Amino acid sequence: MTITALDDPLDSQQLDHQGLPLPDNVKFDNQHPSAGDCHQEILQGLRQKQKVINPKFFYDARGSALFDQITRLAEYYLTRTEQKILNTYSAEIADCCGRRSIVIEPGSGSSEKVRLLLNELRPRMYIPIDISAAPLQQAAVQLGRQFPWLRIHAICADFTDAWTLSGQLPAGKRVIFYPGSTIGNLDPHNAVNLLTHLGNWMGNGGGALIGVDLHKPTQQLQAAYDDAAGVTAAFNRNVLHHLNQLLGSDFDPTEFEHRAHYDEQLQRIEMHLVSRKAHSVNSPYGSFQFAAGETIHTENSYKYTIDGFAELAEQAGLRVMRSWLDEEKLFSVHYLEPVPHTPPA
Ligand code: SAH
Ligand code: AVI
Repeated sequence: MTITALDDPLDSQQLDHQGLPLPDNVKFDNQHPSAGDCHQEILQGLRQKQKVINPKFFYDARGSALFDQITRLAEYYLTRTEQKILNTYSAEIADCCGRRSIVIEPGSGSSEKVRLLLNELRPRMYIPIDISAAPLQQAAVQLGRQFPWLRIHAICADFTDAWTLSGQLPAGKRVIFYPGSTIGNLDPHNAVNLLTHLGNWMGNGGGALIGVDLHKPTQQLQAAYDDAAGVTAAFNRNVLHHLNQLLGSDFDPTEFEHRAHYDEQLQRIEMHLVSRKAHSVNSPYGSFQFAAGETIHTENSYKYTIDGFAELAEQAGLRVMRSWLDEEKLFSVHYLEPVPHTPPA
C-alpha cells in the first residue's frame, strides 16, 4: 500500500467523529487497518498450542482510553519519566533532529509527547500514525486546534504492514518519533525488521527519536504491569471485547484473569489472560476450547540495556548518535541515524 496525496491541499470538508469539520490544518486518512484479513491473523493465533493475540488488538477506542489511564498510574513510571526527559532535553533533541523537519510518529496514541517538542522542533509537518481510528482523529483535531501553525496529516494504519510513505511528502528531513517503548512490544527479530522499515521511511539524511524502557528490578516492573487499581487488568481483558467485535465471537472477559510476569532471562514482561475454568468460546469461524488455567499470551514488553538497544539498532542499519536518560536511569530516549554505506574499496 502506498500513501499518496500527502501534498494535496488540506481538505477542510472532512468531518470528525461528531460531524464537525476538521480544522484547516488537519487531514485524516483512514486506511481501515482492522478490516479484512485481520480475522486470519487472530484465528491463527487462537489455534496455536500456546494461544496468542497480537497486542495491536488491544487498541479499540476503549483500549486506547484504558491505555491513557495506565499512563497516569503511579506504578507506570514509563510515561512520566519519558515526558520529563523530553521536557528537560527538548532543545538538545531539536539540535539533533533539526528544526522544520517532517515528524512521523508510529503509534501516536493521544499525541501527548510530541507537544513537549513542538515549540523547539517547529516541524514542517506532523504525521501521526495509529491503528485506533477515533482516538487518532480526536488527538489530531485537538493538537491542530492548539497549534494552528502545525500541518497535521493523521493516518489510521498498521505501521507494521508493508506500506510506504510515498515521495509525495514535502521536501525536508524526515524524523521518526517512536516514543513510549512501543518498540518493546515487538520481539527482537521483529523490532529489527520494524527499525529497518522505519529506516526506509526516514530515507537518506533522516533520523529517529526512539523511547526505550530499561532493565530494572523485577518487583518494580511487575507492579507497573499489574497495578493496584486493576486498570492494566481491564486493559488486558478488553482485548476480548475487541475480538468479539472483530470476529463475532462470544468471549466472556470476566472468565479470564490478568497475569503479568517478568521473565528475567528473556528480559520481558509477559501479559497473559488465564482462563478461570474449562470452557469453550464460539465464533462464526469455529470454537476455541480452554482448559482451566490455560492462557492466552497477549503481550510482551521487552526491557533493554543502553548497549543492548544500540546493538539491536545496528542490526537494522541505524546508529545511536545521542542518548538521554532520567536521573534514576529508568527510561531512555535515543537519537539514531542510518549508518552511512561505505563504498567497497
Ligand atoms: N506514543 C504514545 C502511545 C503509545 S501506546 C506514547 O508514547 O504514550 C501504543 C500506541 O500504538 C497505541 O496508540 C496503539 O493504538 C498504537 N499501535 C499499536 N500497534 C500498532 C500498529 N501495529 N500499527 C499502528 N498503531 C499501533
Ligand atoms: C504501548 N506499550 C509500550 C505499553 C507497554 O508498556 O508495553 C503497553 C502496556 N501494556 C501494559 N501496560 C502498558
